[in-house]
Amino acid sequence: MVTPVFIGPPGAPVARLYCGDAYAIRPTLGWFDADMMDPPYIIRTSGGGSFRKHRPYLDQIQEEGLDRGFDHAIINPLLCGAAVVFCHNDQVPGVSATLDGLFHRMALLVWQKTTPMPVANKHYVPELEIYFHAWNRGYHPQGELADLKRVFACRSRALKDFGHPTVKPDALMDKIVRNVAGQTICDPFMGTGSTGVAAIRAGRTFTGIEHNPTHFATACARIEAAWEELRQAA
Ligand SMILES: C[S@@+](CC[C@H](N)C(=O)[O-])C[C@H]1O[C@@H](n2cnc3c(N)ncnc32)[C@H](O)[C@@H]1O
Repeated sequence: MVTPVFIGPPGAPVARLYCGDAYAIRPTLGWFDADMMDPPYIIRTSGGGSFRKHRPYLDQIQEEGLDRGFDHAIINPLLCGAAVVFCHNDQVPGVSATLDGLFHRMALLVWQKTTPMPVANKHYVPELEIYFHAWNRGYHPQGELADLKRVFACRSRALKDFGHPTVKPDALMDKIVRNVAGQTICDPFMGTGSTGVAAIRAGRTFTGIEHNPTHFATACARIEAAWEELRQAA
């Protein structure tokens, strides 16, 4: 078993972070109020024409295998009250069918990039990215009316920020955490820890899993910094 890194006061950690394989670790961790995940996408990383040289993140997505999709069996309603799942346009039918079979209700939501890449690559301009929020009874979406809008617009993150090609913006993750019921959140594909940062800032407890040691180290540093900020403000 992988030994986690704990963040927070000894005896009452606010985050527990595992560097390892989500498919092996997540089932051993038991129940969370919400599983929030941004798993590998199914996307075409080839092409791009003359814009390709301006898109090094596509090379990195390919190199790190983030274009090959994920095993939907990791979404398990026996282990969570709700699931938030990001996906690429082409994964919508499959993810939707999985969630529809497992949860009481669900919503398709989008976040709108205010500065999308000006390319289409034989598809549509990727100015809208999709995520689902599915829930069972007792775990329905929370928040003020303004938080319960289905479209959220914000700037996307640059590759240079954390050396990861698909880091989610803080404002988006803060909004999604406000929508999620309960206290405990798990992100089995945590990348650089964006879900964890939002969870800690919102006073939730967080568990994350990431198998890439470089991204895991970034996640540990970001979540530790979020906790330290909160501690100093208290
Ligand atoms: C789309 S990225 C998540 C990015 C994250 N939302 C962020 O803001 O940084 C998916 C992450 O899952 C990780 N990953 C892929 N397969 C995994 C597995 N089997 N176990 C653990 N992590 C995995 C990848 O290394 C990648 O960092």
